[in-house]
Amino acid sequence: MASRMTAYPFMISDSLLLFSLAEALPQPVSDLVNPITGLPQLSEARVLAYAKYLSEDIGYRTVGTREHALSDAWMVQQAEEFRSQCEDIVRAYPDRKLECEVWHQRGSGSHRFDMMGHRLYKTYVDLTNIIVRVSDGTPEGKEHAVLVNAHLDSTLPSPGAADDALPVGIMLECMRVLAHTPDWKPTHAIIFFGVFNNAEESLQDASHLFSTQHPTASTVRAAVNLEAAGTTGREILFQATSEQMIRAYARVPRPFGTIVANEVFSSGIILSDTDFRQFEQYLNVTGLDASSMFLIAIVGNSYLYHMRKDVVENIEPGVAQHMGENVLSLLLYLSSPESPLPTLTEGYSPPSTVFFQFLGQFIIYSFRAAKIAYTSLFVLSAVFIRLAYVNPAPALKNGKSILGEQIKSALAVSAAVVGAFVGANVVAATMVNVLGKGMSWFSSERACVFLYAPAALTGALISQLPMGRVREHSAFCSVLLLQSFLACVGQLAGIGSAGVFALSGFPILVALVLNSMLTKPGDDLSLWSYVVAMSTPLSLGAQMYYITLDVFVPLTGRIGEEAPAEYIIASIVAGAGAYAIPLLVPFVHRFGRRTIVRAALLFSMTIAVMMAVFSMRSPFDSMHQKRVFVIHMENVTTQEQHLHVAAADGAPGFELLAQSIAQEFSVPGAIPAPMNMSAWNNDWDTLYPFSAFLTPYKFELPLRPEYLDAPEHSFNILAANDTIDRIAGTRSFTIVVDHPGIIWTSITFEAHVLQWTLDNNPPDEYAQHYIKEGSFYGHDTWKMDLVIKIPEHDPDARIRVNFVGIHEKAMWPAKKAEKAEGGRAMQLFEEFDAWIDREMEGKVDALLIGCVGGITTV
Ligand SMILES: *[C@@H]1O[C@H](CO)[C@@H](O)[C@H](O)[C@H]1NC(C)=O
Ligand SMILES: *[C@@H]1O[C@H](CO)[C@@H](O)[C@H](O)[C@H]1NC(C)=O
Ligand SMILES: *[C@@H]1O[C@H](CO)[C@@H](O)[C@H](O)[C@H]1NC(C)=O
Ligand SMILES: *[C@@H]1O[C@H](CO)[C@@H](O)[C@H](O)[C@H]1NC(C)=O
Repeated sequence: MASRMTAYPFMISDSLLLFSLAEALPQPVSDLVNPITGLPQLSEARVLAYAKYLSEDIGYRTVGTREHALSDAWMVQQAEEFRSQCEDIVRAYPDRKLECEVWHQRGSGSHRFDMMGHRLYKTYVDLTNIIVRVSDGTPEGKEHAVLVNAHLDSTLPSPGAADDALPVGIMLECMRVLAHTPDWKPTHAIIFFGVFNNAEESLQDASHLFSTQHPTASTVRAAVNLEAAGTTGREILFQATSEQMIRAYARVPRPFGTIVANEVFSSGIILSDTDFRQFEQYLNVTGLDASSMFLIAIVGNSYLYHMRKDVVENIEPGVAQHMGENVLSLLLYLSSPESPLPTLTEGYSPPSTVFFQFLGQFIIYSFRAAKIAYTSLFVLSAVFIRLAYVNPAPALKNGKSILGEQIKSALAVSAAVVGAFVGANVVAATMVNVLGKGMSWFSSERACVFLYAPAALTGALISQLPMGRVREHSAFCSVLLLQSFLACVGQLAGIGSAGVFALSGFPILVALVLNSMLTKPGDDLSLWSYVVAMSTPLSLGAQMYYITLDVFVPLTGRIGEEAPAEYIIASIVAGAGAYAIPLLVPFVHRFGRRTIVRAALLFSMTIAVMMAVFSMRSPFDSMHQKRVFVIHMENVTTQEQHLHVAAADGAPGFELLAQSIAQEFSVPGAIPAPMNMSAWNNDWDTLYPFSAFLTPYKFELPLRPEYLDAPEHSFNILAANDTIDRIAGTRSFTIVVDHPGIIWTSITFEAHVLQWTLDNNPPDEYAQHYIKEGSFYGHDTWKMDLVIKIPEHDPDARIRVNFVGIHEKAMWPAKKAEKAEGGRAMQLFEEFDAWIDREMEGKVDALLIGCVGGITTV
């Protein structure tokens, strides 16, 4: 009896203890040199100082802006200073084998880049990369290199302290520590790559430039991409394309990651949100094929991702230290004689390793070992269950065999899983459709558990009612059989994530074995069996909750209104819950039907209370804001000006907000009309392809006369060197886009293009074409040559070109400090921002950009 009473608290503390063991971040360090060893050490204080300089002193570093140019100059200066430090070190210690080279690469180019099913071309003029290579100075030492990169620019709406100034600071700190470590000698080179990218299309321009034009590109064997989508918690190994890199990562001081995340993100489910996919795909086509790549990213609290509040103050202490020490150790290993880099010349092997964070450890084993272990688990379980089977009451034989009984309990266990999903989704549907209170859980990553766990539990319990009597022992065995079966089949199908079922199956088997040794046959299961059996599912389940909810809950704030956010979150809670407490079914059948009914009633009441509580919550608050996008569009063709407003989430209430906006800023009587967001909706081209997530909230509001502005910048599209070849039926010309004061230009037109300078194979048909430009600050002309087929109906082969771009001085809040230069648009933005802040009580983060566009025929 005593053992029963103590077993319950153990079942709970088990998991909490195990998980807390794994949660800690390291102590931040501020000294540059360890006072005890006298050796240089990675300093978080220094990393954050860099991040602060970039994100606050320089500010919003959007590609093409003046601030972007300032950060480029700053980075060049850092790189040059580092080179001269290296030279001083080598002069002072002539036997150090150390060479530091710096390149400030500049170049122009263009390339095709498809996204979300659309053909898209990017062209860039004079973009830069800052490249620092640290090697031992020999040709052999430079033959194989690891590339580590972080991007210096920030996205349009964000000062980008975590994303990605912090990783830039980490790179600089790694350079300092490595160069000043007395005995360090790089057997293989490390290339530090500070890139500028156009964040929505991420890395592509800069990597295109690097991989097509830089002499060191062909030596890159592996690339480590440092990113931040959040500001708290441990950095996690997000995605790895190769076996070698997973093994390398396993050696860092505090590895963190799970194959589940890796497989989920590699599958591209949330493609638009991970730059990595594009990076991988992009590098693949441009010559870095042999590089194996991986992404480590900070993901905790990703509410601030691409928001104004991505500032140093909001970065959790220890985050930079953690990522920094891991990166440093990775670089030490990859540049050492043991490094796998030389073996990667032959290409890399796709991941064939299972890795998990388990009991505070990063465990890693091969797919081969996994297959053997899981198959053995399944076979052993089946054999054990058969051997240990005791006929419940021979006197009352009801004719049921062990097989019959196992099938029945397997059905009960499966029904519970289905019931959990159904229960959670029914409540989700009620929240959205009946109560109109979608996303009520948004402001906290874990709040949704309180809403959907009781629903999932109720669903699971109700599913047991039609099952009749199920023996506790059989159900316990069924859970084991099902889990080991899933592990086995999943792994045989090459899904490493199936390992979670093995990890939870093993302790269940152990519990069963112990139970049969310590109790009399035919007895009830000891409660201690549950304590033993639940250890893994609870701790791994808790971890799954943490990682998936950390990623998905904030993500629902930027995936558009049409995404089924509520159902995704409800299903995650149900799924992770079913995993975390797999023994619910045997446990409830221990007590019989009446208890199940009572428990279901109790949880249903909890659901009602929770729904009431959540209905009163506002989805957003000041640290978990709603994203609102505002464009002030100046149409130079019609001289009209409009305000466009969009949201990126499905929370209720945006229409009301849009109406207030209309009342406040538009002409009297204006009603905001919802617009269709098609791929070629020119108004939002500057945010394309992210604009696809802005469906369908887009309102065009004619502006009040006092906001009308005389354009003080120019945007001209013309055709030069125009020749028509009647015999061949072609027109060849150069489109020249002249855009002083305007950045991120894009043009769209329809034509049957036969040849152009963008790539070698334009589609051989009359089609719409979409070209985006991103250039260095101050470069305000770009052009492309093309040959088009003369259509029969139009002997002049004129084409209509839609164009749009961002007025470089009209971006709020980026250009707040020099708002006077942004004219009326900035004045409107200032009023708008103050107004929406009051109106929404600080719960909205608005991105306001002044765009210029029009249409012309060339
Ligand atoms: C990379 O290139 C290889 C060989 O061309 C191809 O098999 C693979 O699918 C490519 N990977 C991506 C992500 O495009
Ligand atoms: C949006 O498109 C749908 C079908 O594509 C059409 O029925 C609807 O009228 C359009 N709405 C607006 C405001 O253009
Ligand atoms: C037109 O052609 C001439 C001669 O080939 C060339 O020098 C000039 O740069 C071209 N103009 C444009 C706008 O490309
Ligand atoms: C500007 O106005 C013209 C004519 O109404 C229209 O075709 C074009 O799409 C508009 N462009 C933008 C960017 O608003």
